[in-house]
Amino acid sequence: MNTLSQEKINEIRNSVNIVDVISSYIPLTPKGKNFFGVCPFHDDTNPSMSVSPSRQIYKCFSCGATGTVFKFIMDYENISFMEAVKKVANLGGVSVNIGKVQKKQKHTELHQIYDLSLKFYINNLNLAKGKEAREYLKKRNINEDVIKEFQIGLALKKDTLSKILIQKFKPEDVLKSGLIGKNDYGYYDLFYERIMFPLYDLDGNPVAYSGRIYNREDNSKYFNTRETEIFKKGELLYNYHRAKDDARRKNKVIIMEGFMDVIRAYTVGIKNVVATMGTAVTDIQAKLIKRMAKEVILCFDGDEAGAKATMACSNELIKIGVTPKVVRLEDDLDPDEYIQKYGKDSFQRKIDNPISVMDFKLSYLKVGKDLTSSTDQAKYIKELISELNKIDDDILKDLTIKKVSVEMNIDESLIRNHLEKKKVNHTLKKIKPIATTNKYEKAESSLVYYMLKSPEVITMYSNKVTYIPNKEYRMLAREINNFYKNFGFINEADFIDYIECDSELMETINKINRENTKETYTLEEIEDYINVIRDYNVQEEIKRLTNKMKNLTDPLDKAKIAEEIVGLKKGV
Ligand code: UTP
Ligand code: MN
Repeated sequence: MNTLSQEKINEIRNSVNIVDVISSYIPLTPKGKNFFGVCPFHDDTNPSMSVSPSRQIYKCFSCGATGTVFKFIMDYENISFMEAVKKVANLGGVSVNIGKVQKKQKHTELHQIYDLSLKFYINNLNLAKGKEAREYLKKRNINEDVIKEFQIGLALKKDTLSKILIQKFKPEDVLKSGLIGKNDYGYYDLFYERIMFPLYDLDGNPVAYSGRIYNREDNSKYFNTRETEIFKKGELLYNYHRAKDDARRKNKVIIMEGFMDVIRAYTVGIKNVVATMGTAVTDIQAKLIKRMAKEVILCFDGDEAGAKATMACSNELIKIGVTPKVVRLEDDLDPDEYIQKYGKDSFQRKIDNPISVMDFKLSYLKVGKDLTSSTDQAKYIKELISELNKIDDDILKDLTIKKVSVEMNIDESLIRNHLEKKKVNHTLKKIKPIATTNKYEKAESSLVYYMLKSPEVITMYSNKVTYIPNKEYRMLAREINNFYKNFGFINEADFIDYIECDSELMETINKINRENTKETYTLEEIEDYINVIRDYNVQEEIKRLTNKMKNLTDPLDKAKIAEEIVGLKKGV
């Protein structure tokens, strides 16, 4: 596991300035002692994230996200704590020897099943029986290098993989993998006679397949692994792990529909590409895209379905504050076909000259309308207004209104009068109210919040609080107490690194940061929180004893418990 000492991690953290590092990801502006930027961890357009150079932590006042430079990189790049530490060490020029850095995700049985199946499928493609498939790939211009890079394999007969897996793994795990089925005769492969394209999770582990037919007729061109514990289709993007660095460097990411399109683009050297894989883009995928780069280009298939998907995907992105650009391909071509027909340079020119999402929408909304008829004209303008109301980009809005008023020969004000007033701080409203917490929870949350700031409060906690009712606060309080016992001081940045950004604890820290904003406290306030917690525990104990008493028959036992209850009530 972690081979680095707390001191070393400290040294690494202090080798960089959090402000420099974060500003290489998002723009920051100085204001007072701190720096501010738009938080990348929730949907926002306001600068609600503050970065403190003196405390070396960041904090979002809207969603509560907080942490040190490691946590920022972890969440931004979707990597593990140790991977983030390694990155920062590189930036700060600190030499470390972490060896092979552990991947974020735990390697479960299912992962092992996928690792093995991948080897198996890759090997199949080289067998004599794989000839037909190899020829198919060759015909499609997929050469040896591409096959290697994308780990393309082959499923042959129906019962081969299942035999291997069932010998090595527990049957329930094998069935859970989505690769194997079972009937009266035993286990069988769900994939057969298909070219196997592995699908990866965000860390690059193979977690599913899309299998393409190549030598027979079938209802489905591609057959995909169903969702499993490790494969949630709506939460990943094809090629994410290969594309993310290049996308960040260029600050541009290209979104396509099919993974074959991505493979083609990637192999001609356009590497900042990912695919949504033919389904409607989910909110989670949109957020992933948002984090990859500032400029987002949608390059879907050239056909009508592709236009429709462009529309849907752009709206999902607009919802979270991303205004994408659009590339449309002629003659119903998809990117794979386009690149093969016209070459890389021609495709690159297309990517370098995208149209605005509003220009795309203008032409999309015209399809099927007769703009000489006033009914269709009115319809067109109404639909357009509805699209205008979705976007935040004022300049683009203005340009579009001007364009349409000329095109349709109507007054600009006609459109402007129908625009909704700008939504004020809609994201803040969405996030701030947390399910109304009762006074007990509030007390717990505040107590732990100040524990994270002051040794005095930790001492009060350890002397006076026997038990914090809510598990999440209890765990966090315990960890803070442990940290203080070990190191003799408390400091949020050090503590966060100490827990290695454990996701549950971080979740709680974010929560208490959302619920509490005041920096200072009075001793009375702390006493008050402790009393509220104690009161809660006493009430719970009384409840428990009362219940116990109900179930007793012996009057003597009953009397004893009644006495206990009276004692408790007095103490309150
Ligand atoms: P396309 O039909 O555009 O695939 O579907 P493609 O990339 O052009 O594939 P080739 O060139 O015919 O081999 C786009 C995506 O939709 C999903 C796949 O993920 C594909 O990449 N899809 C498509 C399926 O899951 N099943 C299907 O039957 C078809
Ligand atoms: Mn295709």
